[in-house]
Amino acid sequence: MATIRLILFFSLAFFVAATRNPRRNLLSKSEFTGNYSHVCDAARFAELGLDMKTFAYCNSSLPYDVRVKDLIDRMTLAEKVRQIGDTAYGVPRIGLAKYEWWSEALHGISDVGQTGSKATFFDSSLPGATSFPTVILTAASFNQSLWKTIGQAVSTEARAMYNQGHAGLTFWSPNINVVRDPRWGRALETPGEDPYVVGTYATNYVRGLQDVEGTENTTDLNSRPLKVAACCKHYAAYDVDNWLGVDRYHFDSRVTEQDMLETFLKPFEMCVKDGDVSSVMCSYNRINGIPACADPKLLKDTIRGEWDLHGYIVSDCDSIEVMLDGHKWLSLDLDCGSYYTNFADSAVVQGKVREAEIDKALKNLYFVLLRLGFFDGSPQFNLLNKDDVCSNEHKELAAEAAREGIVLLKNENKSLPLDSAKVKTLAVVGPHANATSVMIGNYAGVPCRYIAPLDGFSSFGKVNYEMGCADVACKNESLIFPAMEAAKKADATILVVGLDLSVEAESLDRVDLLLPGYQTQLINQVAAVSKGPVILVVMSAGGVDISFAKSNSNIKAILWAGYPGEEGGIAIADVVFGRYNPGGRLPLTWYEADYVDMLPMTSLALRPIDTLGYPGRTYKFFNGSTVYPFGYGLSYTQFNYTLISSRRSIQIKLNNLQHCREMNYTEATYKPPCPAVLIDDLKCDNDFGFEFEVEVHNVGKRDGSEVVMVYWTPPEGIIEAPLKQLIGFERVFVPAGGLEKVKFQFDVCKSLGIIDYTAYNLLASGGHTIMVGDGGISFPLQVSFEQ
Ligand SMILES: *[C@@H]1O[C@H](CO)[C@@H](O)[C@H](O)[C@H]1NC(C)=O
Ligand SMILES: *[C@@H]1O[C@H](CO)[C@@H](O)[C@H](O)[C@H]1NC(C)=O
Ligand SMILES: *[C@@H]1O[C@H](CO)[C@@H](O)[C@H](O)[C@H]1NC(C)=O
Ligand SMILES: *[C@@H]1O[C@H](CO)[C@@H](O)[C@H](O)[C@H]1NC(C)=O
Ligand SMILES: *[C@@H]1O[C@H](CO)[C@@H](O)[C@H](O)[C@H]1NC(C)=O
Ligand SMILES: *[C@@H]1O[C@H](CO)[C@@H](O)[C@H](O)[C@H]1NC(C)=O
Ligand SMILES: *[C@@H]1O[C@H](CO)[C@@H](O)[C@H](O)[C@H]1NC(C)=O
Ligand SMILES: *[C@@H]1O[C@H](CO)[C@@H](O)[C@H](O)[C@H]1NC(C)=O
Ligand SMILES: *[C@@H]1O[C@H](CO)[C@@H](O)[C@H](O)[C@H]1NC(C)=O
Ligand SMILES: *[C@@H]1O[C@H](CO)[C@@H](O)[C@H](O)[C@H]1NC(C)=O
Repeated sequence: MATIRLILFFSLAFFVAATRNPRRNLLSKSEFTGNYSHVCDAARFAELGLDMKTFAYCNSSLPYDVRVKDLIDRMTLAEKVRQIGDTAYGVPRIGLAKYEWWSEALHGISDVGQTGSKATFFDSSLPGATSFPTVILTAASFNQSLWKTIGQAVSTEARAMYNQGHAGLTFWSPNINVVRDPRWGRALETPGEDPYVVGTYATNYVRGLQDVEGTENTTDLNSRPLKVAACCKHYAAYDVDNWLGVDRYHFDSRVTEQDMLETFLKPFEMCVKDGDVSSVMCSYNRINGIPACADPKLLKDTIRGEWDLHGYIVSDCDSIEVMLDGHKWLSLDLDCGSYYTNFADSAVVQGKVREAEIDKALKNLYFVLLRLGFFDGSPQFNLLNKDDVCSNEHKELAAEAAREGIVLLKNENKSLPLDSAKVKTLAVVGPHANATSVMIGNYAGVPCRYIAPLDGFSSFGKVNYEMGCADVACKNESLIFPAMEAAKKADATILVVGLDLSVEAESLDRVDLLLPGYQTQLINQVAAVSKGPVILVVMSAGGVDISFAKSNSNIKAILWAGYPGEEGGIAIADVVFGRYNPGGRLPLTWYEADYVDMLPMTSLALRPIDTLGYPGRTYKFFNGSTVYPFGYGLSYTQFNYTLISSRRSIQIKLNNLQHCREMNYTEATYKPPCPAVLIDDLKCDNDFGFEFEVEVHNVGKRDGSEVVMVYWTPPEGIIEAPLKQLIGFERVFVPAGGLEKVKFQFDVCKSLGIIDYTAYNLLASGGHTIMVGDGGISFPLQVSFEQ
């Protein structure tokens, strides 16, 4: 979250309504509108000594723009300025209620925030909310409908909590920054390293949070109803938190236009265009010298203009750009509490900001609040209450998400799943064997409960627990011996190790890719003496170099469990004992440890820089060896694919407005007469599509889910083109011995664009390659232009 300073600032500035509404437990009464469920209630106005009929902004038969204008026109400048911070103080004089903009719902409703300006909170009347796995693990499911379903469950809990006065309606989630570097501390919050996966996750999660069933066909997107408002953050090129003293507040991302378009902006573009998100948050870092929050090109031209955002841009609220217009952006570094609101007021007086700019900001904000029913109510959600938070259905969904995300990395001789008829005693050892809060990572709330690995395994056998390490840091060997003793006696040994927020977190990047302290010794020594098979379970967000375990024949199986959420323990045990057949895939490359010695985290380039010896980043540009590659993941069964049909060539007839463009080729490459065409020049339609079907056979003995991944490789010899790019994926369940058909449809303009050096999006002519799965099936797709 990029709002630490903002929050500090606002909590200093004012004493926000210190007394919370004592009747918050009533149904449909929000924290902000007092004893009423929404602002425009005639009785509420009457209590304020006002006649609601005389306020056009409360007339629901008027269009939103008329209502918003009426509301804004009623405010004085001083009143307006008090609405553009994350605490909007309201204007009792005209019936406008206060509103707290800041709530979080990264993987469940969170109470992160500062007392006083915190919309969401738990107490004895509403003690917790479902804490789903951290996003990095949910992403590993590669299941789009799961991503959306979790969003729907979270927004249901949000509405239920709002009705109890326990939450706001505007959630500053999800975090969709691409994990460019394996050291980034916030990988756990994100869907991983691939811009397309990240954007697809964002679209689904945002739709789950925002969409109101039955209003899908709303044509005026500015008035499309919202269940809750989501926010895609942090825009953009923000993925250095604190690395060897370089922190995000001072970091200047030196980014090429090419990387910007291809990698850093892509998920945001998808979030806005495909997800129709109602808010974007800009980040603290600078981009090539200009603060991301003060760059009119990035904010106004791109998000509002090109992508057509229906909503507001937040950081230091909508109007950083407004506030700073004509002013030195450096003044932002004065994070003094009352600076912002004072400044806006006086800046207008001094002519540095036009009041009309503040009005524009307010307009964007009130449109969103109108869409949320803040003014008129949302009857369809009125019945949601405490029983809808932490329901059995949601807890089961949290467990299901963890099961779907867990990745099987090694399974020597089919050692897994364990057979509970044979395995009666278990040694469950390691610093995470009894993990609780570790499993919910950051931006968590209070979970409904915890099911630790220990608890999960207890339902399958007799468990003997040893920590092995006092904590993740594992500073000494003192607890290893008892762990070895436990392993000597058990029918099977489960080692649960990994990282936590003391290693990878907001404001804390990693400096290496190793397991901390003596964890490696713990694993090796326990594995050496175990009576039964040894199963290694790694909890982490970023990849860990566990080559030693991969090659250790005493370690029969390895699972990656991310940070699996409040129900994580049962999910892990279900996978180990075969109650669930794992199908997750790594959403990140697991690099070897020396990778981080080859390039500094502060170099943002994705492509290798030969002159500096920097390797490339992510599976798209790194061609060296890995511990496990992006997309890796095994199953207890085997699948094979058969390709049914596909178009193999696409000829595009160019008109005289469509020009051929140059591409840079390696010397040995044949250079076609018309190398490429600007995608914006092509009027893409069905003629430029291709589709095919894959038959997925489950040829093993167990039911299972398979993630079918489709990659594209650009024509050979184009300098700086990605090695490959994921363009589609689908998770399917296939019963043992069965088959499922999966259909893929692509539009070459959307899926086969190459961003060139000068940031043009080009379609290259020549032999493209489409691969399905891990190189099992591939076919050529010839693109040619006729002039
Ligand atoms: C809500 O109603 C109760 C009783 O009717 C009253 O005491 C209380 O002050 C009201 N709260 C607000 C915030 O208006
Ligand atoms: C609300 O607006 C409609 C449409 O302009 C108008 O007919 C109606 O009289 C207004 N209602 C009130 C209470 O002013
Ligand atoms: C994907 O997620 C949905 C929604 O939770 C679930 O019903 C479905 O079984 C999952 N699909 C697969 C193949 O795992
Ligand atoms: C939206 O439009 C589609 C296609 O016309 C239709 O099938 C669907 O029923 C509509 N949904 C609603 C809620 O009106
Ligand atoms: C596991 O952790 C929980 C919560 O920290 C603690 O209450 C419990 O005693 C621990 N279990 C064991 C066996 O140590
Ligand atoms: C080992 O580490 C633990 C936890 O850090 C500490 O409490 C203990 O004193 C250490 N033991 C030795 C022998 O250093
Ligand atoms: C796998 O099984 C084969 C045959 O049973 C055996 O020779 C081999 O040692 C086993 N490998 C491991 C790593 O257990
Ligand atoms: C990786 O790329 C470099 C530079 O382009 C090349 O020299 C090397 O052979 C490639 N390695 C592999 C394994 O493809
Ligand atoms: C996949 O499995 C099916 C069913 O066993 C078999 O008929 C088919 O030939 C296999 N296809 C491939 C490509 O191996
Ligand atoms: C080709 O490479 C040169 C130098 O790297 C660059 O200036 C030029 O813009 C590139 N052309 C294209 C079409 O990418």
